[in-house]
Amino acid sequence: MFDLAGHVALVTGAGQNMGAGAARALAAQGAVVAVNDLSLERAEATCEEIEAAGGTAIAVAFDVLDADAVRAAVARVRAEAGRPIDILMNNAGIHPDMGAVPFRQLDPARWRGPIDLNIYGSLYCVHAVLEDMCAAGWGRIVQISSGAGRTGLNIGVAVYGAGKSGIEGFIRHLSQEVAPHGVTANSLALGLMNNSARGDAAVTAHLAASVPAKRLGTPEDVGAAVVFLASPEASWLTGQTINLNGGATTN
Ligand SMILES: NC(=O)c1ccc[n+]([C@@H]2O[C@H](COP(=O)([O-])OP(=O)(O)OC[C@H]3O[C@@H](n4cnc5c(N)ncnc54)[C@H](O)[C@@H]3O)[C@@H](O)[C@H]2O)c1
Repeated sequence: MFDLAGHVALVTGAGQNMGAGAARALAAQGAVVAVNDLSLERAEATCEEIEAAGGTAIAVAFDVLDADAVRAAVARVRAEAGRPIDILMNNAGIHPDMGAVPFRQLDPARWRGPIDLNIYGSLYCVHAVLEDMCAAGWGRIVQISSGAGRTGLNIGVAVYGAGKSGIEGFIRHLSQEVAPHGVTANSLALGLMNNSARGDAAVTAHLAASVPAKRLGTPEDVGAAVVFLASPEASWLTGQTINLNGGATTN
């Protein structure tokens, strides 16, 4: 089960943390993985990890907000892999302007970044791979969302949450359009992950204690869920947002 040999995946923002974990997991199941990041150095580091484990990876540095660069990279991956991308994980979603600032204090100049990254960054990537997926009659789109896109939180992430809610809505509609072509589209709403506290041990322990599973999520947790959603076995699962959060919320 969950054999991805013969498939080609693109994971955005895969130079570190959750995206890197997903890229490693997809490659371990046999997919050729195009590892994207803004930083070529980080993308190459993830590729080296994949190759050291016996997998195949292609580093593709581009900004997901640059539609021309997205299309060019997708064409390059198709040429290098010898097959089109048929698994897309939209993971890049943390913008420098995301801030943990209450909306009343948030400078309007900081509204657009998190919304554009989560919505337009994902739209450009979906648009660049969708025709090939529909033509092949098989495709998997996995959108990384957040609990902040589903639940009101008083932690100063209202605009980021709007971006995540918006792209989840898009994925639901997209799933209906492409289901007849063998393409699924789902969102994974991540909860508190092991980089949420940005290395502060006391905050990490406090956050972990708040999760029913008593630990924070890891890149490996994300990788396992993405492998399932990307697999042939998940063909009946589409249009859903799945919480991956140690039980922190249950609907
Ligand atoms: N970490 C968490 O606690 C958490 C919780 C809920 C949801 N999420 C979601 O999970 C995803 C991954 O989070 P993370 O913590 O691993 O992120 P991260 O910031 O650690 O890493 C993301 C990578 O994306 C790259 N990136 C940023 N903007 C980009 C762009 N425009 N084009 C290409 N690459 C770009 C960065 O260079 C970085 O290497 C995000 O969508 C985030 O919203 C994370």
